[in-house]
Amino acid sequence: ISRNFSTSSVARAAIKNVTVVGGGLMGSGIAQVSAQSGHNVTIVELNQEVLDKTHKSIQQSLQRVAKKVYKEKPQEGENFVSETLSRISTSTNLTDVVQSSDLVLEAIVENLAIKHKLFKSIDDIAPAKTIFASNTSSLSIGEIASVCKRKDKFAGLHFFNPVPVMKLLEVVKTPETSDETYEKLMAWAKAIGKTAITCKDTPGFVVNRLLVPLMAEAIRMLERGDASPKDIDIAMKLGAGHPMGPIELADYVGHDTTNSILNGWHDKFPENPLFNPLSSLQKLVDEKKLGVKTGEGFYSYKK
Ligand code: 3HC
Repeated sequence: ISRNFSTSSVARAAIKNVTVVGGGLMGSGIAQVSAQSGHNVTIVELNQEVLDKTHKSIQQSLQRVAKKVYKEKPQEGENFVSETLSRISTSTNLTDVVQSSDLVLEAIVENLAIKHKLFKSIDDIAPAKTIFASNTSSLSIGEIASVCKRKDKFAGLHFFNPVPVMKLLEVVKTPETSDETYEKLMAWAKAIGKTAITCKDTPGFVVNRLLVPLMAEAIRMLERGDASPKDIDIAMKLGAGHPMGPIELADYVGHDTTNSILNGWHDKFPENPLFNPLSSLQKLVDEKKLGVKTGEGFYSYKK
């Protein structure tokens, strides 16, 4: 967990002020790790109600971190939580906050038209130096960037859930991302305590290109009745050393997310059988059994 980076090292870095657009699960995690490492963060959402929820979930996650890191020193833990929270502000007005932003990172709904609208609305007014980035899981960074003039200052920054725990950051370069932008983002990744890997702008980058077909293949096994969900999960945990089995992981990621990734890729690459839609996944989505977040998916999480 990234907490050993002094604010002075951030002061020397190119990226100090970070705007995170979207206060959902990913956006709040990204805001948290940025603030934990000394960056000034502004979270932008559509309304104050969502921002209040975001603030609360960051606070809870920070308390989890504090409990672990400052086990013997509860007072220091409390200070860590309040200091981190003091570096996070919230806003419902993106055009206002973008003026002082070194990095605008988008973690909103996976819809190309909505992402286009967002970046188009700030491309002309953001300072020339401001880097734009998307945390998209499955859309093309180049396609998202296509509406902006600053294509050299546009890249993918793909985080993993839970963001405060998962150590990886995928830094995605399009053919137009400049080396300078790339270097600044690699330095930022280090500053927030993540290990960065670089990937071209390909579907799913590295992790999702491998994980989504794995989850899909596991669901195909269920559809064929080859093994039970529990046995598939035990198999991959004990036989392949994965922290979660693929069925558990699908419930954890959310079936709406996986289903929309698969369908999107299938539309674009219909010849690839790994991306074929799954009827049982679609059924779970239709029944709103989206996994852990709704209390039921392949497993039940109802208390
Ligand atoms: N904030 C802060 N800390 C958290 C946290 C959160 N949101 N969630 C978990 N933690 C901490 C816990 O406090 C705990 O700390 P401890 O070790 O001191 O007790 C530690 O993380 C482990 O958590 P738990 O004990 O609750 O549970 P596990 O040991 O089972 O670990 C897990 C949970 C880290 C989620 C682990 O099961 C795991 O690594 N699973 C795989 C997750 C994964 O593959 N994620 C990627 C999904 S794909 C993705 O995100 C891409 C997207 O584009 C689809």
